[in-house]
Amino acid sequence: MSNKKLYIKTWGCQMNVYDSQKMADVLFPLGYAPTETPDDADLMILNTCHIREKATDKVFSDLGRLRDIKDARAENKPLIAVAGCVAQAEGDVIMKRAKYVDMIFGPQTYHLLPEMVLKANGGERVINTDFPVESKFDHLPEAAVESPSAFLSVQEGCDKFCTFCVVPYTRGAEFSRPPEQVIEEAKRLAGRGAKEITLLGQNVNAYHGGDYDLADLIAAIAEIDGVQRIRYMTSHPRDMNDHLIEAHRDIKKLMPFLHLPVQSGSDRILERMNRKHTAEEYLAIIDKIRTARPDIALSSDFIVGFPGETDADHRATMDLAEKVGYASCYSFKYSPRPGTPGAVMDGMVSEAVKDKRLQELQALLFAQQTRLNESMAGRVLPVLFDRKGQKPGQLLGKTPYMQSVYVDASERLFGMMTDVKISRAFQNGLAGEIVTLEEVLPKKSA
Ligand code: 5AD
Ligand code: SF4
Repeated sequence: MSNKKLYIKTWGCQMNVYDSQKMADVLFPLGYAPTETPDDADLMILNTCHIREKATDKVFSDLGRLRDIKDARAENKPLIAVAGCVAQAEGDVIMKRAKYVDMIFGPQTYHLLPEMVLKANGGERVINTDFPVESKFDHLPEAAVESPSAFLSVQEGCDKFCTFCVVPYTRGAEFSRPPEQVIEEAKRLAGRGAKEITLLGQNVNAYHGGDYDLADLIAAIAEIDGVQRIRYMTSHPRDMNDHLIEAHRDIKKLMPFLHLPVQSGSDRILERMNRKHTAEEYLAIIDKIRTARPDIALSSDFIVGFPGETDADHRATMDLAEKVGYASCYSFKYSPRPGTPGAVMDGMVSEAVKDKRLQELQALLFAQQTRLNESMAGRVLPVLFDRKGQKPGQLLGKTPYMQSVYVDASERLFGMMTDVKISRAFQNGLAGEIVTLEEVLPKKSA
């Protein structure tokens, strides 16, 4: 097998991180091993995200850098590829504007990558942004990478058509993988050392594979030996059914963390966004979840400055965030995406107002996050070490509530779940110490 180097740069959501891993896996049998830099790569892939503005500009600016590397090489010129949602949405434009790009392909075509690479190596320019009818899930090989914390894609696409969002156009209609296939993959991941499995989907709680809904799927995966933690993302409030809420009460391995984006706290804006629920309905769901699992940590996405958003609407968003009390959130300024209904709505909000609202919202959300982190100080929490820290002798892991924890610990603990006593809290995470046996065991009475 020849030894070639593969460089992938990934933007955007967990779905893209997962897709990049899968691309590396399908190319492995062709002799491509990952490299961290484009400088010595034989194949460079930009796995792009189209969700917010300037995505295409960023891609072109990165492409410029890759072209310089390609031009500088006298022989063994690398292949340059653009994948992901920008490729899907703007493939034709890239094809025309950037003649040095060899391959362009959308998220539904990754299983065809070996074929495309062979063609491109033969000098052909390849563009593949179709939505094939067959499922890409049927063709993808298993992950070659071992990680204590694995992603498992169970659902793709979205039929919700929120008026700000490109996903229904770039990722296509909603599709769930058959449960047997997902459970088999979960078993194989567990067999290779995965202790935490995160079920991924653009609209994961809309999962419906045969008779299974997401709660059924979680229950089945919880039965697998070796799986200690289960998570899922991203969810839509409309699909947060009672069965899934009860799973948070009944399935111990399901972690007490839920990412449930609300986007806005104003009914008027929610309506314009086509979210199909009110603020009150969202709060009622949150109440139910908290009744089922009182310690659950909540997270959301917010958009400020959607067309037509007034100061009063913004205050409604602040009020909602205040009421819920979030563990961590993502918040964005609205950016019009061509081809979506929001882009042509009246009442565009100025950048200055968006900036001000974003700052105000983030100040509140960061304060909430810091408060939650501080409330963990002194507590002992189980932490799964899934990353190495930047300094030697440092490991990073996650609490059940998705907080990152730094610990000075031997590398031998990588991949293990261990009790950690939280010593310090920051806005972004925690620091702690491994709890030794003496601290845990009751003292012997003399
Ligand atoms: N402008 C700003 N934020 C957006 N998001 C999606 N589309 C847009 C847009 N046009 C945000 C939403 C979504 C998250 C993944 O990205 O909050 O939940
Ligand atoms: Fe986009 Fe809305 Fe679908 Fe989420 S639910 S992917 S925001 S259209």
